[in-house]
Amino acid sequence: MIKETRITLKNIGTINPESIDDYISAGGYEGLKKALTMKPFSIIDEMLEAGLRGRGGAGFSTGMKQKFTSKSCQECPQRYVVVNADEGEPGTFKDRVIMEQDPHLYLEGTIIAAYSIRATKAFIYLRGEYTDSIARTQKAIEDAYSHGFLGKNILDSGFDCDVEIRLGAGSYLCGEELTMLESLEGKRGNPRIKPPFPAEKGVFGAPTLVNNVETLANVPLIIRNGKEWYRQFGTERSPGTKIFTVSGQVNKPGYYEVELGITLRQLIDDLCGGMLEGKPFKAALLGGAAGTFVDASMLDEKMTYDNLKEKGATLGSGAVIVMAEEDSVYEILHSCLRFFKHESCGKCVPCRVGTTLMVKDLEKLKNGVADKEALVQKLVKDSRMIASTSLCPLGQSPILPMESAARYFMKELTL
Ligand SMILES: Cc1cc2nc3c(=O)[nH]c(=O)nc-3n(C[C@H](O)[C@H](O)[C@H](O)COP(=O)(O)O)c2cc1C
Ligand code: SF4
Repeated sequence: MIKETRITLKNIGTINPESIDDYISAGGYEGLKKALTMKPFSIIDEMLEAGLRGRGGAGFSTGMKQKFTSKSCQECPQRYVVVNADEGEPGTFKDRVIMEQDPHLYLEGTIIAAYSIRATKAFIYLRGEYTDSIARTQKAIEDAYSHGFLGKNILDSGFDCDVEIRLGAGSYLCGEELTMLESLEGKRGNPRIKPPFPAEKGVFGAPTLVNNVETLANVPLIIRNGKEWYRQFGTERSPGTKIFTVSGQVNKPGYYEVELGITLRQLIDDLCGGMLEGKPFKAALLGGAAGTFVDASMLDEKMTYDNLKEKGATLGSGAVIVMAEEDSVYEILHSCLRFFKHESCGKCVPCRVGTTLMVKDLEKLKNGVADKEALVQKLVKDSRMIASTSLCPLGQSPILPMESAARYFMKELTL
């Protein structure tokens, strides 16, 4: 029987999130104190060896990103940290839990990350609808200033750092890192062409480290407790824990922090209390709308970044939407495709026109078409074409639910 392993969620329910004293009593800001006695490059080495991978979806090495940003443009007068707190992926609500219940944790991670790349300014790009997260984070920032954890000469280390919140206006695309930087600069949320990556040319043209809230919440814990401590959790290539947000046909939907490597079956049966009313499991959508459908054959696969990728699935943001036999994969797929159509910024033709046509074509499955299988195959082909010709990663999103739905549920789609 698998249990939760709460490290980033350890303080939840035990401290008052609005009290910096509570956070300090629970070991808070010890990571920052230790970090400030270390050389910035030693922090990056520690992160590299701990093996933390970005929790925003892509699973890229956090230490590598710090290293690239730190080494980029030595003559640049400024570099920045930008916290991705936009949390737009459907089915995902893990960052909200951290921001509302333990805001100092990711704030401390942000300050350490800034020190590691020698940035003196960090922005938190926070979803505008997350009013409690905004209020708690703002209070945490003010208290961190008054306790000397932010501002000039932090804890007499000579290091200065300011943190400021910037609000997003509820665009899914603005969670994509380069689009987020455009929005943060006050422009329309249109994507930028990659490369250059944010590490080379980020916000206001300066080298920028972009990290997700959950990623940053791990940083003080790794610095405080060390890489060996961190590596005791998870697997060799996916160390640590991950917060999964489970919704749909389970008895206890919610958020669960578990070691990476847990299986979907363990997550559903051991933590979520099993399928609702004992209904048979049919499918899960892993990673949100830009995620993949899996069927019962994947129930015992280890959920790590690499294993799921090898099996054609994705861990993504950690969203898990569970479906029972009675649920329609068509309806969920339809909802994902309509979502992409709605969120497409319209800048490039393949995505603007392609996502609209995909929705229309998918609907033909219900409205009557002679060869349904040929239509599903066309949809898969179109999603590949959109992915390969679109300007930004949103255009690469429809392919994931489309291909996986066709792989596992062709029979149902063509009934
Ligand atoms: C369309 C789209 C939306 C995204 N939305 C989010 C988001 O809401 N939050 C997030 O942390 N990352 C999001 N990402 C991923 C970010 O681009 C980026 O990879 C992430 O912030 C990097 O942080 P990490 O390395 O700590 O994971 C999104 C990506 C795409 C393509
Ligand atoms: S792929 Fe879609 S979201 Fe991205 S630039 Fe093109 S139209 Fe905009």
